[in-house]
Amino acid sequence: MIDPEAIAARLPPGFLIGVATAATQIEGAIHEGGRGESTWDVFARQPGRIADGSTTEITTDHVHRFREDVALLRDLGVDAYRFSLGWPRILPDGRGPARAEGIAFYDRLLDALLEAGISPVVTLFHWDVPEPLQRAGGWMNRDTAYRLADFATVAAEAFGDRVDKWITLNEPTTVSLNGYALGIHAPGESLLFDSLTSVHHQLLGHGLSVTALRAAGVRGEIGVTNVHSPVSSARRGFLGDQYTRVFDLVHNRIYADPILLGRYPRFPLLARKEFRALRETDPADLAIIHQPLDFYGVNYYMPTRIAVGPPEDSSTPDGEAEAMRDLPFHLAPWPEYPTTGFGWPIAPHFLADTLRDHTRRYGSALPPVYITEGGASFPDAPGPDGRVDDTERISYLAGHLNAALSVPEVDLRGYFVWTLMDNWEWAAGFTQRFGLVHVDFDSLVRTPKASFEWLQRVQSSRMR
Ligand code: NOJ
Repeated sequence: MIDPEAIAARLPPGFLIGVATAATQIEGAIHEGGRGESTWDVFARQPGRIADGSTTEITTDHVHRFREDVALLRDLGVDAYRFSLGWPRILPDGRGPARAEGIAFYDRLLDALLEAGISPVVTLFHWDVPEPLQRAGGWMNRDTAYRLADFATVAAEAFGDRVDKWITLNEPTTVSLNGYALGIHAPGESLLFDSLTSVHHQLLGHGLSVTALRAAGVRGEIGVTNVHSPVSSARRGFLGDQYTRVFDLVHNRIYADPILLGRYPRFPLLARKEFRALRETDPADLAIIHQPLDFYGVNYYMPTRIAVGPPEDSSTPDGEAEAMRDLPFHLAPWPEYPTTGFGWPIAPHFLADTLRDHTRRYGSALPPVYITEGGASFPDAPGPDGRVDDTERISYLAGHLNAALSVPEVDLRGYFVWTLMDNWEWAAGFTQRFGLVHVDFDSLVRTPKASFEWLQRVQSSRMR
């Protein structure tokens, strides 16, 4: 069911429809206003790291075009806009005094959003560790957690009067898994299970930042965003089940459990040694990590399937890392489902499963939930008439919104589409387009796609 009126009729009053972005992926202007370097600026310049050899220099040039982008948001009719604060734009060294120019940019953006009647949702950490902190070990160094909390204080003092929702971390799973375990994201470390130290430090950074935001008296709500994927086994059997559980732990539970329950999950006997870094943490840290939250953010893109043994050929579904070859399991494909441009399976009922699992596992410890990201990449290009007809994206979004709304037991408050406009998709560079707005990466011209018009109609059809 993709009819916008029918979807609008299902959305409860007050349900937030928004779009999400991240600083590194859209801002550009990396040498302006005294901005420092981030780990992603450095990583992108290393040969062979980014699929198309592109960098973070310009991306969509949002810093210079933010007024045009806010006009697009207003035209789209979204209730809320989720964006991230560039950590090195505000704190070039990751510590010390804040840059006035950095603060001034987000001041202008926030004011423009409020003037357009759009509710600002701010992510503190969307992967752009300032390079000086990265050189000192990044998330493998406990100090980074304290530096994030200092950043939270700076942000709270500057923007706390205008931000409606704060998100401490975005997808710590992806940072630890892709960045520190598998080496396919910045900082490019292939530590496998030794990367778990970076998990604990990110979580500590979350807890300390919540405390810092509260101490600064921000008026907005406070939450965190984890990416969740239901993990299942390609074939039943002892080993398959064990590895599936291990992957469910490293992808989902070692983040959600400490945040929501104040403890790490029990680790399977088979992998006790591997999880040592988390088994031996100080209980006082868990008390810091386990902060009361106003909401819980779920990013959902796809399910995961685990198979025993190394991959049969060199192409794992998601272009997985070389490092995965050293593991006794791999990510298996989903031949029964259609896929996105990234090769990710499209199967919306797994989003409903994820939400149901969360209510079952966390019960009253689960605060109200927002889907803080969901979306799909496709090779969109303007047709002869200039229109970008991205029907597949419309059906992805409609399918996932319908699935999310089909779980009455979850207190779901909103859905944020990833993303406003085509942008710099990390290691995939400009090769994956996720936007509701098409961006020509040469001219930087923005062209709303059919999915933009579709979401616009959803919003204009709602009873308020
Ligand atoms: C999640 C990340 O938060 C976002 O930055 C990324 O672009 C999307 N997934 C799509 O991969």
